[in-house]
Amino acid sequence: MRDTDDIGSNPTDNPALSDLIAARFSRRAALGGGLAAATVGFLGGGVLTAAAAEAGSAGSDRDKGKPHQLLGFAEVPTSTADTVVVPEGYTYDVLIPWGTPLLSSGPAWKKDGSNTAAEQAQQVGMHHDGMHFFPQGGGWDGPRRGLLVVNHEYIDQVLLNPDGATPMTAEKVAKALAAHGVTVIQIRLENGKWSPVDSRYNRRITGATPVAFSGPVSLKHPELTSNNPPLGTLNNCAHGVTPWGTYLACEENWNGYFGTDDASWTPTVLESRYGVTRAGFGYNWHKADARFDLAVNRKELNRFGWVVEIDPFNPRSTPVKRTALGRIKHEGATVTEHNGRVVVYTGDDENREYLYKFVGTSSWKRLLSQGKSPLDHGTLYVAQFNGDGSGTWLPVVWGSGPLTTAGGWADQADVLIRARQAADALGATKLDRPEWVAVHPHTKDVFVTLTNGSAGPTPVNPRATNIYGHILRFRETGHDNTATTFSWDIFAFAGDPAYQPEGQFVPETQPLFGSPDGLWVDPDGRLWIETDISNSSQNLASRKYDRIGNNALLAADPSTGEIRRFLTGPRGCEITGLITTPDQETMFVNIQHPGEATTAWGSPTVDNPRAVSNWPEFDPTGRPRAATVVIRKIDGGKIGT
Ligand code: FEO
Ligand code: CA
Ligand code: CA
Repeated sequence: MRDTDDIGSNPTDNPALSDLIAARFSRRAALGGGLAAATVGFLGGGVLTAAAAEAGSAGSDRDKGKPHQLLGFAEVPTSTADTVVVPEGYTYDVLIPWGTPLLSSGPAWKKDGSNTAAEQAQQVGMHHDGMHFFPQGGGWDGPRRGLLVVNHEYIDQVLLNPDGATPMTAEKVAKALAAHGVTVIQIRLENGKWSPVDSRYNRRITGATPVAFSGPVSLKHPELTSNNPPLGTLNNCAHGVTPWGTYLACEENWNGYFGTDDASWTPTVLESRYGVTRAGFGYNWHKADARFDLAVNRKELNRFGWVVEIDPFNPRSTPVKRTALGRIKHEGATVTEHNGRVVVYTGDDENREYLYKFVGTSSWKRLLSQGKSPLDHGTLYVAQFNGDGSGTWLPVVWGSGPLTTAGGWADQADVLIRARQAADALGATKLDRPEWVAVHPHTKDVFVTLTNGSAGPTPVNPRATNIYGHILRFRETGHDNTATTFSWDIFAFAGDPAYQPEGQFVPETQPLFGSPDGLWVDPDGRLWIETDISNSSQNLASRKYDRIGNNALLAADPSTGEIRRFLTGPRGCEITGLITTPDQETMFVNIQHPGEATTAWGSPTVDNPRAVSNWPEFDPTGRPRAATVVIRKIDGGKIGT
């Protein structure tokens, strides 16, 4: 996502994680372990146990007796080419690029960007992001047919319309809204190729789809009063999948869509805390649609910043905003469970923001049997990281700590609407932009990407300005993800060891990568890492990113720390959205915003939308299109082995 995440809206004095890491590093170094030991040390014995568990549970019969080897592919080099590169022995295909009609009878994509808003609403959206594959049919058919559900995080208005973003019109706002949201589309594997199916499940949820609210914050809450019915979801970044088979789309940088030309409008403290400004991110929708005009429809923006539950198997279902998970800039909503209780991890991706988790009150099956949503009944927590490697989950609950009437908090709805400020008051720990969260299926360890940030510089910060990012690892006490305490360390630092001092934490043998963002642990325990280096840094020596190349997908072995680069993307893109079929023989990966304006390669224009990239079609009169890529082994077999 765009660089606006870097700016930050957190004015508090809560400690930043960089301070705490620095404290731990200097302590370990003083003890003689050195930095390398500090990086790999903290879960030592437990990880060896986990590795043994992985070797036992991940291997098939034919693997028995062979040494444990999670990563079996030949690493690909860094790339600056305008293409996708996969390892030798692998192949890739392009599936459902932006503008693909949901049904074969639907409106065809027009390569000059001239599809109407109504047509875009019947086509796959732009800028694919978080994604899940829901298999359909049991047994042999499960890996061959299913629903692919894809978030469309944001849009590029220069590429979306034949004449770009100017002038802004009601039709352009409508098309932009239609290009956002979520796609549900059935796909099938036939003769080695995945294709969309004309299915009753195929649907779009957009920025204009009717939605409902549930949980402690009612749509009747005065802070949610608006001139229009509740419509749509925006900036759906990463996602989650519930054990009951629904999809969670998360609303991240929703603040950027709102603006006003009314010079008398000034933000409240609450609005400033969420980065709301008169100019927004420059979309200018407010010029053509009063829904997005802060001076006309001020509370509309409070209807965004939520986690949205979607039932892909019921095409007529209404998406529901689950308010118990709080109102922040949700990167994702990673779901796991312990003894039937649901646990949802969610990062607030902005510089100096926090990591949250939601824990259900009782088993999700019991709650569902009582007609209750497991996402409406639980406790929201925010993470506090202690300098000794321990951590505490602080309840973001009205009546707890400072969150009282005397402290200025009316009720739980008030706490959830102002979740960032509640977390400030609790003393949560600032992070360098928490992005995706992944839970290891065997160890239940939790990995979190901190993509980059500038919570520093601080005197003891090991990376005073964190331009490359790193990956945190947690172990909840007792391997119980509902626990309120945990231990933590750093799994890996991204970066380029050629640059000091940032490089001092990066092993020379580690593949170059930067700005880790997407994360997923596959059923065998491979940790997949997707990068989102900003286009203002990518491929630039001035930003210490010249050797790292285009964005990439890497795989790591959590038990050994080994990392290998698996895929590199075309120019201007980020790599995101990642899932395999249950047999792990097909991997789906999203190529988001190929051809976006970059400092290194230039900017697309109305006259030349191909200035940066023309992936995937390389049509001399076409334009770049975000798409899902489908990765398979040429000779079959599990991806990554
Ligand atoms: Fe949408 Fe934080 O990336
Ligand atoms: Ca990112
Ligand atoms: Ca992201």
